[in-house]
Amino acid sequence: MMFSITVNGRKVLADKGETILSALNRNGIKIPTLCGMKEFTPTGACRLCVVEVEGRERLITACSHPVEEWMNIHTHSPRVLKARKTIIELLLARHPDECLYCVSNLNCELQKLAQELNILERRIRGRKTKIRLDQSGHSVVRELSKCILCSRCVRVCEEIVTVTALDFVNRGQKTHIGTSMDRDFNFTSCINCGQCINVCPTGALHEKQHIAEVQEYLSNKAYQKVVQYSPSVPSTIAQMLGIKPSRDPESMLNGILRKMGFDKIFLTGFGTDILVEELSDRLEKKIKNGETGSLYISACPAWVKYYEQSVNDLPGELSTLKTPQQIMGAIIKSHYAPAAGLKPQEIYSVSVTPCTAMKFEAARESMTTRGICDVDAVLTVRELAKMIKLYGIDAVETEGEQADEPASLKSSAAVIAEVSGGLAEAVMRYTSLKLSGNDPGRKPFKSLRGTSSFREAEPEIQGRKIRVAVVDGLAGFAKLKEQISSGKQYDLVEVMVCPGGCVNGGGMPAPASKEEIRNRARLAYQNEETDPVQMPSASPAIFNFYLKEVKQNAKNPAGKLLHTSFVKRDVLL
Ligand code: SF4
Ligand code: SF4
Ligand code: FES
Repeated sequence: MMFSITVNGRKVLADKGETILSALNRNGIKIPTLCGMKEFTPTGACRLCVVEVEGRERLITACSHPVEEWMNIHTHSPRVLKARKTIIELLLARHPDECLYCVSNLNCELQKLAQELNILERRIRGRKTKIRLDQSGHSVVRELSKCILCSRCVRVCEEIVTVTALDFVNRGQKTHIGTSMDRDFNFTSCINCGQCINVCPTGALHEKQHIAEVQEYLSNKAYQKVVQYSPSVPSTIAQMLGIKPSRDPESMLNGILRKMGFDKIFLTGFGTDILVEELSDRLEKKIKNGETGSLYISACPAWVKYYEQSVNDLPGELSTLKTPQQIMGAIIKSHYAPAAGLKPQEIYSVSVTPCTAMKFEAARESMTTRGICDVDAVLTVRELAKMIKLYGIDAVETEGEQADEPASLKSSAAVIAEVSGGLAEAVMRYTSLKLSGNDPGRKPFKSLRGTSSFREAEPEIQGRKIRVAVVDGLAGFAKLKEQISSGKQYDLVEVMVCPGGCVNGGGMPAPASKEEIRNRARLAYQNEETDPVQMPSASPAIFNFYLKEVKQNAKNPAGKLLHTSFVKRDVLL
């Protein structure tokens, strides 16, 4: 039921049951928030969203208070502005004065609020929070002194990621965001997804930066510098740089990477095509042999860590195929290097990805050959955008270029595999094509698309129903387990940790609204519709490489190149 309220002397419509904040936002009235996150239960912790309501003695928090018909609200009265200013001043009193050296400088909500509230001097002095820098993990860095205790990370890790690796520790002045037993990250159940980074308003949580290392190697003539990038990287970078959509983002990014000093540019999507080839081979065998168990597939290293530490009773087979990044990493060091007359250690191999967990994955022992990493450094999309600025590259003026052989192409199967459900869809469609000789198109598998955290469908391949489940964000994993314990069986299960898939990875520009994530997925599907190469086999270059260099190569057998092993992980839960 809609009714009208007065805000700053103007009548606006509000909906019964909504919060004051929601009514204000819907009417285009902006007020600052810190602890609040859309679609989360408000905690009312920061009190920055306070407003003055006539007839109420105390200021009230707009994010947690329901709007009422009689309300006459003032969002920017002198009393409100003073209260907000004091809240930020109190936070700054304990905060380190390190903005110039902070990874979030110019991209920090606290800094922005201090500026908006015209805080130009230190009025309140407090004891600075003790510096505690946790760099023990390969993906996420914690700088506790920069934390303002908004609890966003705690709620995301618990409610969205469902891992609960973070929580409040201690009380009063000693309260901080900690992990189990307050140990460093590398001992914990954190799966490196980076979703907490994407919501942290300050520099308290950020990805482990590889920029400085990559920069150093780029100027080192002793190495050949090779870069690969994931399918969603070019369009995201183009968007971040404000490039017109009419420009081909992939060729533009190739030009930029060459200007930065990379000698060879490869597409990670080429690795995804090989992954799709191998997975569909396995599914084909399952269908032909009438095997009934579940095959778990994924291109998500965060899921692999979760599986290793927390899953021990899942019936079925977990695919041992590497992620596309690591497939490409292995191809670069074990195939491309000898073909180019180089030793693997003479190549510096960089991957650009929307995912923070890939940093962890690249450092796994199983991803090295005789002590040499297949991928030496992993940059998130955010880090690459920073590097482009660092190198002073004008993207508009940069000529488009082609990527390099052998991995200059990808099919659109690789593009949709970055959206949750897309890998299963690509594998199903390709298996159907191989078994029947006809491409069934995308229509029979469209039921795998969607936004709910658990989806199931039974598309047919050659008259046989294939029971497919898609876990879209780990919250859907509980539902999968529930279904399995109630006796349900699946032939194929795809799991992605980040809701929406890699297009919502922890290394993407943040914060992303649900609508923005849906748009990224829509873009991937639109690209697929217009792409003439929709299956790996549609490109002779991809297919022949797979056949000759992977399937039939005795020196570099597919097993070693493409497959990995898992370990049982003991972590603090
Ligand atoms: S990286 Fe993911 S799992 Fe780790 S603390 Fe952050 S949200 Fe939780
Ligand atoms: S680490 Fe960041 S998101 Fe988490 S409570 Fe601190 S400031 Fe908030
Ligand atoms: S945003 Fe309302 S209390 Fe923090």
